[in-house]
Amino acid sequence: MELLEGLLSRQSVRHFTSEEIASDLIRKILNAAVMAPSGLNNQPWKFVIIRNEGVRIRLAELTRYSRIIRDAPVCLAVFLDRSLVYHETKDYQAIGACIQNILLAAHGLGLGGVWLGEILKNAEKARILLEVPEGNDLMAVVALGHPGHHQERKERKGLEEVVLREI
Ligand SMILES: Cc1cc2nc3c(=O)[nH]c(=O)nc-3n(C[C@H](O)[C@H](O)[C@H](O)COP(=O)(O)O)c2cc1C
Repeated sequence: MELLEGLLSRQSVRHFTSEEIASDLIRKILNAAVMAPSGLNNQPWKFVIIRNEGVRIRLAELTRYSRIIRDAPVCLAVFLDRSLVYHETKDYQAIGACIQNILLAAHGLGLGGVWLGEILKNAEKARILLEVPEGNDLMAVVALGHPGHHQERKERKGLEEVVLREI
């Protein structure tokens, strides 16, 4: 898939088939994730790959988007490694770029995914559940799977609304 075409056609996928995701696809997605830019190239991200159904069911209890986590064959939990932080805002931006790479790579491989942030209200409980050491802050869970039924595309504001000025 051409890069711009993939970027323009990506949309959040919240319904998945029951088909598993092959491990090599998850590796490809994570290899794309770590190619994201980061300030000073500090690469402040850490990941947990969650396939285990029992763990997903318990993780799902920490968000109102529980169905998505239960249905997705794989969830990726993305953490900020605080020991690598040099500038909080820039490190958050790097994590955002990393998560976007995950979504775009999944899309390019014919998979679908959604960035789940609502679960951050229980970030610490999720960290403990996933047995991740203290000092890593949950940034998002990305639910991944083979796309199920079609979902309506979300509208975007027109450029005239978001471009403040051309100088
Ligand atoms: C920081 C962030 C948090 C999000 N959290 C959730 C979430 O908890 N649940 C959910 O269903 N979608 C979540 N989304 C996905 C957005 O709802 C979605 O990207 C937006 O509506 C635009 O739709 P699109 O991705 O299909 O273009 C989140 C997206 C971002 C960037």
